[in-house]
Amino acid sequence: MQAATLAAGLGLLAPAVLAQNNQSYYDYTTNGNPQLDQRTLATIPLGFPDCDNGPLAGTTVCNTSVPAYQRASALVSMMTLEEVVNNTVNTAPGVPRLGVPPYEVWNEALHGLTHFYQPDNGSFSWTTAFPQPILSMASMNRSLIHQIGDIISTQARAASNAGRYGLDVYSPNINGFRSPVWGRGQETPGEDAFFLSSLYTYEYVTSMQGGVNPVVPKMETVIKHFAGYDLETWHGHSRLGNDLNITAQNLAGYFTPQFKTGIQYAKAKGIMCAYNAVNGEAGCSDPFFLQTLLREEWGFDKQNGFVSSDCGAVYSVFNPHMDAPNRTAAAAIAMRAGTDIDCGTEYAYYLTPALNEQLIDRATIDRALTRLYAGLVEAGYFDGNSSMYRDLTWDDVVRTDALNISYEAAVEGLTLLKNDGNLPLKKSHDCKSVALIGPFANATDQLIGDYAPTPNYIISPLAAFEDSDWEVNYAFGTGVLWRNTSGFEEALEAARNSDVIVYAGGIDLTIEDEALDRENITWPGNQLQLINQLSQLGKPLTVLQFGGGQVDGTALKNNDNVNSLMWCGYPGQSGGQAVVDVLSGKRAPAGRLVTTQYPAEYVNQFDQRDTELQPHGSCPGQTYMWYTGEPVYAFGHGLFYTTFDEEVAGNSSGTFNITELVSQPHDDYEYVEHVPLVTFEAKVTNTGDMDSDYSAMLFANTTSGPAPRPIKWLVGIDREATIPPGGSCTVSIEVPLGVLARANEAGDLIVYPGEYELALNNERSVVYSLTLTGNAVPIAMWPLQLEEGATGNM
Ligand SMILES: *[C@@H]1O[C@H](CO)[C@@H](O)[C@H](O)[C@H]1NC(C)=O
Ligand SMILES: *[C@@H]1O[C@H](CO)[C@@H](O)[C@H](O)[C@H]1NC(C)=O
Ligand SMILES: *[C@@H]1O[C@H](CO)[C@@H](O)[C@H](O)[C@H]1NC(C)=O
Ligand SMILES: *[C@@H]1O[C@H](CO)[C@@H](O)[C@H](O)[C@H]1NC(C)=O
Ligand SMILES: *[C@@H]1O[C@H](CO)[C@@H](O)[C@H](O)[C@H]1NC(C)=O
Ligand SMILES: *[C@@H]1O[C@H](CO)[C@@H](O)[C@H](O)[C@H]1NC(C)=O
Ligand SMILES: *[C@@H]1O[C@H](CO)[C@@H](O)[C@H](O)[C@H]1NC(C)=O
Ligand SMILES: *[C@@H]1O[C@H](CO)[C@@H](O)[C@H](O)[C@H]1NC(C)=O
Ligand SMILES: *[C@@H]1O[C@H](CO)[C@@H](O)[C@H](O)[C@H]1NC(C)=O
Ligand SMILES: *[C@@H]1O[C@H](CO)[C@@H](O)[C@H](O)[C@H]1NC(C)=O
Ligand SMILES: *[C@@H]1O[C@H](CO)[C@@H](O)[C@H](O)[C@H]1NC(C)=O
Ligand SMILES: *[C@@H]1O[C@H](CO)[C@@H](O)[C@H](O)[C@H]1NC(C)=O
Repeated sequence: MQAATLAAGLGLLAPAVLAQNNQSYYDYTTNGNPQLDQRTLATIPLGFPDCDNGPLAGTTVCNTSVPAYQRASALVSMMTLEEVVNNTVNTAPGVPRLGVPPYEVWNEALHGLTHFYQPDNGSFSWTTAFPQPILSMASMNRSLIHQIGDIISTQARAASNAGRYGLDVYSPNINGFRSPVWGRGQETPGEDAFFLSSLYTYEYVTSMQGGVNPVVPKMETVIKHFAGYDLETWHGHSRLGNDLNITAQNLAGYFTPQFKTGIQYAKAKGIMCAYNAVNGEAGCSDPFFLQTLLREEWGFDKQNGFVSSDCGAVYSVFNPHMDAPNRTAAAAIAMRAGTDIDCGTEYAYYLTPALNEQLIDRATIDRALTRLYAGLVEAGYFDGNSSMYRDLTWDDVVRTDALNISYEAAVEGLTLLKNDGNLPLKKSHDCKSVALIGPFANATDQLIGDYAPTPNYIISPLAAFEDSDWEVNYAFGTGVLWRNTSGFEEALEAARNSDVIVYAGGIDLTIEDEALDRENITWPGNQLQLINQLSQLGKPLTVLQFGGGQVDGTALKNNDNVNSLMWCGYPGQSGGQAVVDVLSGKRAPAGRLVTTQYPAEYVNQFDQRDTELQPHGSCPGQTYMWYTGEPVYAFGHGLFYTTFDEEVAGNSSGTFNITELVSQPHDDYEYVEHVPLVTFEAKVTNTGDMDSDYSAMLFANTTSGPAPRPIKWLVGIDREATIPPGGSCTVSIEVPLGVLARANEAGDLIVYPGEYELALNNERSVVYSLTLTGNAVPIAMWPLQLEEGATGNM
């Protein structure tokens, strides 16, 4: 909100303003979803401009010797005002007069393709459905994230070539999974925003785009949601109207570093501003985020990037944020602040009035569309059939799906939380039938999660068990949310008739989804009641916990008759096969939790909109970095089937003068924060009797710098492939200077001199002592907030 006078003038309107395209009352402060019109939601047939024979032939936009931005600028300069305005929205009609075809900016690619033009059941009626990112990231395998992005972009380009998909994607979702109730945490790589989300962003963006700032981007990634977006509808507070107070320290240290990585290091071509406001400014009209941070600090201008609003978020600048007194002014301040494209229709209807009312100028409107087209020019949109990637077809979708990386990702992400030796299920003379019980036992669509691609097949746990040597006794038992016990007896009967019991339950999209946060983090319905009854039958019992968010498993942890517990996330199209292969021991688990499993009371201890991560008042601190309570299962927890012995390899201590280090030339690195400081090495030996992958997390902790200090923070990950019994490998993790930085109260990222320890996993089985001397080194200074009321650069 700007000046008080503005707010006063709006008193009559708020909160009962009319909805976007519907004259009946719709409250944007409580409803989780905006009302989007058909044009915004549409998926349309697409095509490429014809620079050889079309009206554009011979014009500058078709001249490949001219830099991309100039080509785009030349195109926009040929358009009338109405034509420019018409194309500043996500479903853009193009310019028929000039042979510029319609374009759709809204394409999704979170874990496979969604929201694209699929008119028939032929080619492109299916594409690969990978696990949700939260499970893939639990693998600790950054190459896996890269390979998934590589495949998704191949499939996306193939669809684009067939006129069904654009050249940009509204992915990835990289907001930190701070509050465990967040319905979209499943879409993210977890709660460690500073390191892990940044790593994930780097791998996703550079694989989707085809490298770091390649000449021809394969797909342009629009990283989202900038910034401070991590709740949907908690306690009736809609994401559309939330206004979160975030300190400069937490903005710099938690809510924006992954965006900085995406823009500055991975060179993402796009970014999406969020529905919510931060510190009184709606995300899509915030010149501090969109101009100062993004373009001035992180250099977004240098890479011809564009900003898209979230869908309906330009309208939300007016309703419910009231950052402008009417829709005309809202469109103007959003674009002036730097929101180039409106996923919505506000720009189409209100920019011309805004120009007439002198709330915006023509150059600013032209600039916005030029930014979008500059990216399309780079991607080869105007360059004809022989341009890079234009040869990808449906065959490439079929080929990349057959690599079966969706299955590999699911196997690698599965995370064993508890095991008394029950797993793997050994198939011996007295153990050959399994009771498979629960709401996920025969799950198909439920295995995919939100932003669900339509895959060619989905393998349920039941189907995978039926396809194995096991004799399966299936019973539904109960639903995710059921309170009635009508299915219990059948489930108990199936269990009595079997040698071992597997319960497959947890949470699904009925309680965690876009526009739907959870109100609690307990196991929903009567699932624990059924599990408890199953546990009293004296048979080996495994519980599979599906879903993106964690549920408090204290009862399962403390029940000795629950022999094993495995978190399965949303494992994708081959999820059932992955689960059964791990249960049976064909594959071994090595995933690690990328979120903290908090006790249930945690979410009642403080307002979930309270973004202060550090412990304060009744808030025990947020994320593993600051949480002072006892987690049920900690961030980073994950068991193996085998045992590993870890010992130091190489040095176990070192002293470095950081003042000296940053003053030396670092020709191999564009940014000093990426210069390697230490290589942490541990020798890991498989001391058990099964082949297993090994996964590692490396944490730092320190007594340096000002208090409060985080308990610890993640500075590296690794995964090593199949280590046989008796075999060993060396885990080697390079720790660059920048990951040791912390944000101070002003938001400056500083590496402080002093004592640090680098410790392997939560067990701290190998510790490296690090001493930094010299002066505190600033990695990045947080820019000053603009004067209140400043709205862009007109
Ligand atoms: C308008 O919104 C109301 C409330 O969401 C809904 O019930 C109604 O169907 C909508 N009407 C139209 C014409 O979209
Ligand atoms: C394309 O642009 C280059 C560089 O500006 C220029 O030299 C050349 O004449 C242009 N070609 C055409 C066909 O206009
Ligand atoms: C602008 O878009 C509208 C709606 O798609 C269309 O009716 C109109 O003809 C377009 N105007 C121009 C100049 O392309
Ligand atoms: C696709 O196939 C389904 C099921 O066979 C059918 O219901 C649907 O109408 C088909 N859609 C099109 C566009 O042909
Ligand atoms: C943000 O701070 C303002 C001013 O102190 C306060 O009125 C508001 O309730 C705070 N919002 C949240 C979500 O805590
Ligand atoms: C919208 O608000 C602006 C103030 O920012 C004002 O100048 C303009 O006249 C208003 N337009 C309409 C159509 O009410
Ligand atoms: C480019 O390929 C498309 C699809 O195969 C085809 O329709 C079009 O005619 C081709 N254009 C040229 C200039 O060859
Ligand atoms: C499992 O689900 C499939 C559909 O997804 C259904 O056809 C089948 O009947 C179900 N099996 C059982 C045993 O309920
Ligand atoms: C917990 O929240 C879910 C929805 O998120 C709800 O269905 C359930 O009733 C709640 N349980 C309790 C014990 O409050
Ligand atoms: C790091 O944490 C460990 C475990 O809490 C502690 O024993 C050690 O003193 C800490 N080291 C530093 C340098 O803070
Ligand atoms: C990590 O993923 C890559 C790409 O999928 C794969 O080749 C590699 O084997 C995986 N590493 C481990 C240790 O599983
Ligand atoms: C660190 O390096 C700086 C610059 O070379 C030097 O001035 C300073 O004395 C060094 N400090 C220590 C503790 O060695």
